[in-house]
Amino acid sequence: MIHSSTASGVKNPGGFIPPFPHRWPHALSPWQRLRLARKNLIAPFEAAAFEFDFVSVKVLTKRVFVCNSPQTVQWAFGIKNEVFEWRKRRRIVAPIIHASRLSAFAPVMTETALALGERWSRLPAGATIDALSEMAALTAEIICRSIFGRELRQEQARAVVEGFNQFQRAVSRIDLLSLLGLPDWVPRLRRVEVYRSAKRIHRVIDEIIATQRDRGDAEGASVIGGLIDARDPDTGAPLDAVAVRNEAVVIFMAGHETTANTLAFAWYLLSQAPEVEARLHEELDTVLGGRAPTLADVPKLEFTRAVVEETLRLYPPIPILAREALTDETIVGGQVPKGSIVMVIPWLLHRNRKLWDRPDHFLPERFLGANGPTPDKWHYVPFSIGPRVCAGMAFGLTEAILCVATLAQRFTLRLAAGHEMQPICRVSLRPGDSLPMTIHRRAGGALPATQEAAPVTAAACPFGHG
Ligand code: HEM
Repeated sequence: MIHSSTASGVKNPGGFIPPFPHRWPHALSPWQRLRLARKNLIAPFEAAAFEFDFVSVKVLTKRVFVCNSPQTVQWAFGIKNEVFEWRKRRRIVAPIIHASRLSAFAPVMTETALALGERWSRLPAGATIDALSEMAALTAEIICRSIFGRELRQEQARAVVEGFNQFQRAVSRIDLLSLLGLPDWVPRLRRVEVYRSAKRIHRVIDEIIATQRDRGDAEGASVIGGLIDARDPDTGAPLDAVAVRNEAVVIFMAGHETTANTLAFAWYLLSQAPEVEARLHEELDTVLGGRAPTLADVPKLEFTRAVVEETLRLYPPIPILAREALTDETIVGGQVPKGSIVMVIPWLLHRNRKLWDRPDHFLPERFLGANGPTPDKWHYVPFSIGPRVCAGMAFGLTEAILCVATLAQRFTLRLAAGHEMQPICRVSLRPGDSLPMTIHRRAGGALPATQEAAPVTAAACPFGHG
């Protein structure tokens, strides 16, 4: 049983064990737990938490139940989902970013990754970049152009992305208080800052939508075009301007940082596992032969996909999922009273010793069908599971695969000397506050040329999540 990994991870013949926070060998008091959680939400777990099936704890005023086995996860997020909160909005948004529309979005993903590659190629060999902020800028631009159309002007894109960055910085501090169950009336110093930055985003987005509506060029293929065309499933009425803007905001917020963190962790993991990196390069060279990847290539990039999936297992960007029970319930013989919080914690579930072989190792091949059965869909849940599974799952998976495939063909990234990565979760799980890495050009790795994507569906989840 492993209680801790060194900050630089552990390399051994069985594979690389990347860093994770210390696992406490004894039970923690509620106050110890809170103190640790304030700094890092994945820090206050005992070693025993990585093998239990179901547990109930008291956190401040709330009773919290944690489901940590396929059966209890299925109960909470599959069978009993309807007794927890639910939103109608989902029925409008999900079809617009669904896998069937990926042929419109995939070229934006590859083009944007190619543009980043061009920028990297102008840097001197061995230059240091912050891989986390580079990936955040990459995915922000991809989601921005997917939402507002490929023709979005540079300064508009910049205004949207800057507005969201400011908003997210302000919100992340407030959310922690809410997560700990503090009532809404407890003053949050940053509330004014959140309000101001939200207003700024609204103004920028309203302007873009108005211009596009006036010119009549809200592209049907863009998310905004889809929202303008969408009808309320109950009344058949079109969405008003505020509803269109709000949906665009949700998609931006939900779909930008998650993929950025996944990509940053993937670069880190590849930099520490030379055999995995070599196998990835071999696949990219064989399947793509130096050209830019298209949507049609995604099903052929099996190992690239396995690298992304294993990254999402070890470092799920949303490592804690919570629901509130709307009625009294019973599970595994115990009572779950109305108002309790029911949690699925991918951070624990994905490393549960009873469910995974070598759970802390970075082993992408575990996701290749030929190496045995792929994981049960109820214990691999980076995109959540059940009716509320991430609406952008196919988008996010495809985006991560295309970005890795485009950039890894030409570059390798290495952790900057002296830097140690530690995963940290405030709202989402990220590789610290920054990830300094050096860039190196791969021998013979030419910058791939752009190609139009063939219209096929891609990246459906192999675990039946969507
Ligand atoms: C690797 C990338 C991603 C991961 C790991 C991820 C994960 C998740 C998770 C865990 C949820 C919460 C579901 C629940 O509450 O049970 C979620 C919700 C959602 N995601 Fe993703 N996501 C990713 C990328 C995306 C992208 C690219 C988009 C949009 C294009 C997107 C759109 C959404 C939406 C709309 C929701 C529902 C939000 C709500 O109704 O509150 N996600 N995602």
